[in-house]
Amino acid sequence: MITQLAYLGIASPKYAEWRDYATRLLGAVIAEDGPDGAVRVKVDDKGYRVAVHPAEQDELRYVGWDCGNETALRSYVAELRGKGVELHEGGTDELKERQVAELHWFADPFGNRHELVWGQFSQPNSFFPGRPMRGRFVTGDLGLGHIVLIVPDLERANAFYADTLGFRLSDRVKSDIFNLRFYHCNGRHHSLAVAEIPGMTGINHLMLEVESFDDLGTAIDLFTADPDREILLSLGRHTNDLMTSIYVQTPSSMQIEYGHGGITVDDLTWVAGNHDLPSIWGHHRSQAYLDGPPGIFRTVAAEGTGG
Ligand SMILES: [Fe+2]
Repeated sequence: MITQLAYLGIASPKYAEWRDYATRLLGAVIAEDGPDGAVRVKVDDKGYRVAVHPAEQDELRYVGWDCGNETALRSYVAELRGKGVELHEGGTDELKERQVAELHWFADPFGNRHELVWGQFSQPNSFFPGRPMRGRFVTGDLGLGHIVLIVPDLERANAFYADTLGFRLSDRVKSDIFNLRFYHCNGRHHSLAVAEIPGMTGINHLMLEVESFDDLGTAIDLFTADPDREILLSLGRHTNDLMTSIYVQTPSSMQIEYGHGGITVDDLTWVAGNHDLPSIWGHHRSQAYLDGPPGIFRTVAAEGTGG
């Protein structure tokens, strides 16, 4: 089983701008560059959590999922093979680059690459924020945070992520405008969500959670003062995970949700619900939000590939 979101890899022509962006605005730090010059962002004791590779255009490259340990990863890989998922084993160079002990990858039905790993490199007490922070990022057993993927067909996505991969449904947001499902794989309300946009796939945002409400407030001050990086969705609170957050621009077209105070769920008692709105209050759209692409997208054929 997948136990947490381990890391995320994107590519962008503006990869170098992440060095300043991630430290000065997010409070993250920059780890050693990848072999291709990728800028690597560190938010906790793991070697790095986000890699931004150099490329001609913005791309979602891979999502890394931790499966806990060798035994659990191998039995999960066998289980997925039994369900017809085509898995490939990562080579030595890939393991070294991702800083993991073992890696198996597959493409989801829409062609997005997911990597199953264990043994991600971690160095105790190695994280010190890139800007003054009262607390740290909320990671540990809850993983890096959450990602929201864009999928062309929500039912098909649900069949794959929930029925095949085993993500547990947290709840959904469905209205005339919104159609999303949220899934958990640990106590975090969701590590993965999928939003339906016909004909498209990609990533809308990565959520990073901070322990201290003041660090969210400081982020609002810093982004407000920065002429180059807009707040895309104003301070607001989500209906489902009760995260208080802002959504901000990055140097690439992927957004970051910078949040505080999300709830955790317990499978023994949690009952999936349905919400008709994503937010209780706030999360008002800025002009930059309306102008810009809300994420890294590419078109995908209706029936897709892989699986
Ligand atoms: Fe989110």
